[in-house]
Amino acid sequence: MTYDELRSKYIAYFSSQGHTHIQGKSLIPENDPTVLFTTAGMHPLVPYLLGEEHPGGKRLTNYQKCIRTGDIEEVGDPSHLTFFEMLGNWSLGDYFKEEAIKMSFEFLTSPEWLGIPIEKLGVTVFEGDQDAPRDEESAQVWRSLGIPEERIRFLPKKDNWWGPAGNTGPCGPDTEMFFDMGQEACGPDCGPGCPCGKWLEIWNDVFMMYNKNAQGKYEPLERKCVDTGMGIERTITVLNGYNSVYETEIFKPIMLAAEKATGYVYGSESEKDKSQRILCDHVRSAVMILGDPRGVSPSNLGAGYVLRRLIRRAIRHSRKLSPDHSSSLMEPISEAVIEVLSHVYPELSENRNRIAEELAREEKKFLETLQKGEQEFEKLLPNVLKNPNRIMSGRLAFKLYDTYGFPVELTEELAAEHGLKVNREEFEEAFKKHQELSRAGGEAFKGGLQDNSEMVTKYHTATHLLHAALRKVLGDHAAQKGSNITAERLRFDFSHGEAMTKEEIKAVEDLVNEQIGLDLPVTMEVMDRETAQALGALALFGEKYEDQVKVYAVGPGKDRIAKEGNVSLELCGGPHVERTGLLGKFSIQKEQSSSAGVRRIRAVLLSQ
Ligand code: SER
Repeated sequence: MTYDELRSKYIAYFSSQGHTHIQGKSLIPENDPTVLFTTAGMHPLVPYLLGEEHPGGKRLTNYQKCIRTGDIEEVGDPSHLTFFEMLGNWSLGDYFKEEAIKMSFEFLTSPEWLGIPIEKLGVTVFEGDQDAPRDEESAQVWRSLGIPEERIRFLPKKDNWWGPAGNTGPCGPDTEMFFDMGQEACGPDCGPGCPCGKWLEIWNDVFMMYNKNAQGKYEPLERKCVDTGMGIERTITVLNGYNSVYETEIFKPIMLAAEKATGYVYGSESEKDKSQRILCDHVRSAVMILGDPRGVSPSNLGAGYVLRRLIRRAIRHSRKLSPDHSSSLMEPISEAVIEVLSHVYPELSENRNRIAEELAREEKKFLETLQKGEQEFEKLLPNVLKNPNRIMSGRLAFKLYDTYGFPVELTEELAAEHGLKVNREEFEEAFKKHQELSRAGGEAFKGGLQDNSEMVTKYHTATHLLHAALRKVLGDHAAQKGSNITAERLRFDFSHGEAMTKEEIKAVEDLVNEQIGLDLPVTMEVMDRETAQALGALALFGEKYEDQVKVYAVGPGKDRIAKEGNVSLELCGGPHVERTGLLGKFSIQKEQSSSAGVRRIRAVLLSQ
């Protein structure tokens, strides 16, 4: 089965089961400070999993690009990837365990769909603990479908529980589906969920029943939901009888481009093979991040740091394959990635130049850094080797990072080559201190609350008022470039070429406070995208929207949602307060540059 067939079949199957096909979203989450990237298909759906109505209804399906770097150490094995595509289906208070499992089973095994023999499937379910009971119900459904007892395993929370995606949010027990890769069992306890390589996880049905709050408590959700995710790359692998994702049509052209660029011939099963896999995985992820409409650039902060780390790690591994290369290795490999994926993600070919330029710039910078950092490491080495515990201090590693930009992961790799370990705790401590000192630094790492708490809801509405006021005071060019809300403040990025004057800041603040003082109603209506556009509702540039969208209006507009008579009209998932009078006093605390042509406002709501 091809990559395109699998995607279409999935969407077709779930559409036939009453699901609305919704758009996948950007890799960079909007308005969610808890994570740097979209890590799963459920991510953009968090507000709906917590109770908001979705314009697409109660059954949804899509494919979503995802970045996960939590497992980066495993990348290079046959199945772990930092970028992957997830197929998903959701029930927002509609079906639950039984129907979800039955649909998963039908799609996997029916000859009309994937036709996987039932003997190749195994599953895991949640064994229960103090937070939630043992999931006998799911196990019973699997038994009734013909999965034998020895291929149903009960596992603890660390294996069979999903979420929240950040520190807080919707979560619950899950049941995971595994494919038997055909190897010998590693021992008597080997079964689905065993990490030995015999059982490959391809799909996960999560039963979202709780909201984990900021105090770490699991509050039962009023409306139980289902969130499922099937990995495209892994599923294509097993459907075609391959042993690793790198053999599939999704990776083959990228692997060939890497071979051509490095001159290394893949297939010796050596460490170099692993380096080639890491190289291809990381370049692919970097291309997807750079090519995203909300693309980030390599930097030392947040998502930019993850991107920098991926590119730099890729370069390190490319040098293992081809130590003396002088021409760019990134370019031909990234071109292959664009070729494979741009028919699904046209933003990649649209941003081709940006991708090439950013990669080339980072490659050049890093090669200089590497040379310098390695020289410095060599200088430090004799002293470190005298240390009887064979531990390099974290402060030294931090010095290499701080002074030469040499990433700690590379210091660790170089150290390991000499049988040394780096004191990572000490490094993190020094790094944290440095972040607190650097003004812009802390925020992206501190995390925050993404929830529907009262304050967050208020800040959502305040953001709409701010956006409208900026456009009124500065002009229509002042378009939203990013927004980030916590329970303590809002942050809003918008296009504007110069610093705002004191008078402009005051005018915006006054305008927002005036609308708060008028206690205007906030109303929502679901409509089709074209109608919303015709009404002039503001949307996010580069974001893909469904056919049916939610439009929020603030103001006394005649027919509730109307162009005339409203202060603000925006496409938005919500939630919002019902009246502006609930917001309190709006105060802009800071106006500063965010990047070229983009300004950033930080504002708070004070209780009156
Ligand atoms: N959120 C779940 C996962 O990522 C199911 O999609 O596994």
